[in-house]
Amino acid sequence: MSDVRIYVEEAPGQRREIEGPTDMGLNLMELLKASGYPIQATCGGMALCATCHVEVLAGPLLPEPGDDELDMLETLPAVLEGSRLSCQIRLTPHTDGLVVRLAPVG
Ligand code: FES
Repeated sequence: MSDVRIYVEEAPGQRREIEGPTDMGLNLMELLKASGYPIQATCGGMALCATCHVEVLAGPLLPEPGDDELDMLETLPAVLEGSRLSCQIRLTPHTDGLVVRLAPVG
């Protein structure tokens, strides 16, 4: 079993490392929730609620967002340059080293 490391920027210059398995089909939203971050994920990871919105700051190139994710991101009042729905980011060895920040709610 291999783990992936994700860095969460909690404040400017302050990053917390969290780890998750890559062989359980988990997504980043699930890892963030399991790590204690206040993500509601009311749709359960279906790209329908956008409460799992994160901003990708750095790290490996991710697969492009799908149509469902893009449609949902368009409904947000403030879309940031690296905006993604964390439930649509699957944890794989390729996501190792990803740096994200939780987007402000609302
Ligand atoms: Fe609802 Fe990601 S958990 S859009």
